[in-house]
Amino acid sequence: MSGERDMVTVLLVENNAQLMKHMQKTLGLIDKIELINTCLIAQEALEVIRDQKPLVALVDYNLPDMNGINLTEIIRREFPGTQVVVISQDNYTDVVLQAVRAGACDFITHDVSVKELTDVLTRAATLAIQDRSKLSAFAGLAAPDRKAAAPSGPQGKVVAVYGAKGGIGTTTLAANLALALMDRDRDARVVLVDGAIQYGDVHLMFNELGQASVMDLVQRLFDLDLELVENVMLFNRPTGISILPAPPRPEFAEKITGEAFARILEFMRRHYDYIVVNTHSYISDAVLAALDASEVVVLVTAQSINAIRNTRLFLDLWNAIGMTKDRIQLVIARHDPTSPITTDRVGERLKFPVNLVLPEDNDAARKADALGQPILRSTRDSAYSKALNGLADQVVKRAEAAEKVEEPRMRMFVTS
Ligand SMILES: Nc1ncnc2c1ncn2[C@@H]1O[C@H](COP(=O)(O)OP(=O)(O)OP(=O)(O)O)[C@@H](O)[C@H]1O
Ligand SMILES: [Mg+2]
Repeated sequence: MSGERDMVTVLLVENNAQLMKHMQKTLGLIDKIELINTCLIAQEALEVIRDQKPLVALVDYNLPDMNGINLTEIIRREFPGTQVVVISQDNYTDVVLQAVRAGACDFITHDVSVKELTDVLTRAATLAIQDRSKLSAFAGLAAPDRKAAAPSGPQGKVVAVYGAKGGIGTTTLAANLALALMDRDRDARVVLVDGAIQYGDVHLMFNELGQASVMDLVQRLFDLDLELVENVMLFNRPTGISILPAPPRPEFAEKITGEAFARILEFMRRHYDYIVVNTHSYISDAVLAALDASEVVVLVTAQSINAIRNTRLFLDLWNAIGMTKDRIQLVIARHDPTSPITTDRVGERLKFPVNLVLPEDNDAARKADALGQPILRSTRDSAYSKALNGLADQVVKRAEAAEKVEEPRMRMFVTS
């Protein structure tokens, strides 16, 4: 099965001496199993996996240095060619669920029968072999000469919409900006991705509901294809835009790692012209991946002391991690001309010019909410819609300028 001798190579990670002995004995009864090593602690297991690349790691739930669930997560992230089967004393539903969510392909208890263990390990090894062939195909795509190897699709632009404070109109802006980019160029392929991975709500602005989400792509990260991505996205008929929703439940957010999100965005870049990413103010790894990947960051702020403070802290952070300010388009998303904190004052406080203001329009916002249609569709002739079309022009110009300069990117999550 694993090549030359059709053996299923297994690493056993077990801290309890008695259980270790018992599992070793059971494994010894199975012909096709080669127990290549045993480890008492998680750290050691990671080193062995790195060196010996077993097809399957049998990981006990209780380990002294880290629990088996955390170890499973690391193995699946760092060594996707090794499958994990979690062992526990009891098959409590929550433990099974945790194991599966962490990426384990199966679950057994210590009193597993020889027959069941054989089946579980054979299945796990088959999956590992499949993963390895996908991974080598993916490694080909991600090789250093990727530009030469995959010039087929457009090199789409990622536009991250970020507000350092919640509730200031970030998601409204992202939804409308995606539409404005579509309106500007009917041939442009524009998608809207929800990077607000906990409580993401951009699809609600289009009155869409569904169970499919970015989670479905994470499970097939090394096997993404356009058909899958299009099936997972919600297609909003009235506007013609496709939306990749955030996970349906907040507790799933941790599954969307920075690397996963970065890979999804890089895949989308090859198939769409503009990928507009809604985010939330908390800088999760997914948000950081979106910011890192983006050609343009629409930085949303507001005429309030705390929004200005947070925006300034964000700009400091942006600077500290070595990103250039050329990518940032600073926007006040709910501009009130009567506020004593004028646009100029916002710019002065931030030491960064406000590039554009979108007027506050409560009637239009309420109507958009009630109809489930962004302002650009529900109140086309509003000042907000006009200003947004102007923002789309600015974003396109900035994205084109970014294409010309070889911008330093952290590429924090994708190493290609
Ligand atoms: N220009 C505007 N004029 C009036 N109301 C607006 C405007 N932009 C957004 N709103 C309203 O402000 C509220 C918050 O908007 P939105 O959800 O876009 O903000 P957010 O920054 O994404 O919030 P969150 O932090 O919850 O994700 C919504 O009720 C929305 O309709
Ligand atoms: Mg939002």
